[in-house]
Amino acid sequence: MSATNTLRNEHVQMRRLEKIIIRCYMRLYAGLDIPFSDLEKMVTIMSEFLDTIHYSREEDAYFPCVGSYGSLKEEIRAFMIEHEFSRRIASNISKYLQKWKSGENGSEPVARFLKTYAIYLNDHMAKEDKFFDIAEKDVLSPEEEKLMYEEFRAVSAVTTKIDEMIKSIDYLEQTEWMKS
Ligand SMILES: [Fe+2]
Ligand SMILES: [Fe+2]
Repeated sequence: MSATNTLRNEHVQMRRLEKIIIRCYMRLYAGLDIPFSDLEKMVTIMSEFLDTIHYSREEDAYFPCVGSYGSLKEEIRAFMIEHEFSRRIASNISKYLQKWKSGENGSEPVARFLKTYAIYLNDHMAKEDKFFDIAEKDVLSPEEEKLMYEEFRAVSAVTTKIDEMIKSIDYLEQTEWMKS
């Protein structure tokens, strides 16, 4: 395994979340129900897997390592801005979910921000996947790939958290509303 492949594999899990989010906002727009607890699970995955784990690996390790060669700086800058954008969308989903729960307003803002999040995910990951290919082929040495990978693996609490998050994604894929 390498650092680049670790991040690619995380994107595979994030693609699964993207599909769940799309199904979810389409149902909400159609006036159909989604349990609040399932929506809260999605918000947790956004914050504890995407933000705390995946973005941190990119921002604190992978991007600085690629950027240290002076290459792909513009792309890295754009990715960091997009991460911030996605944090704002996620916090809006969470905020409007609470309002909806307390009867303040309906599902519409939640559906709208979920849709924005899905569009962001698709766009961001498509660009990063191309970036990974270039970084892997032209920038990073095999030693750096290995060292970063080992660094990722070193924190066992993070590995446990990822397993837990993947179980949450498994659960969401198996819900009645996903299958119907
Ligand atoms: Fe990213
Ligand atoms: Fe990423």
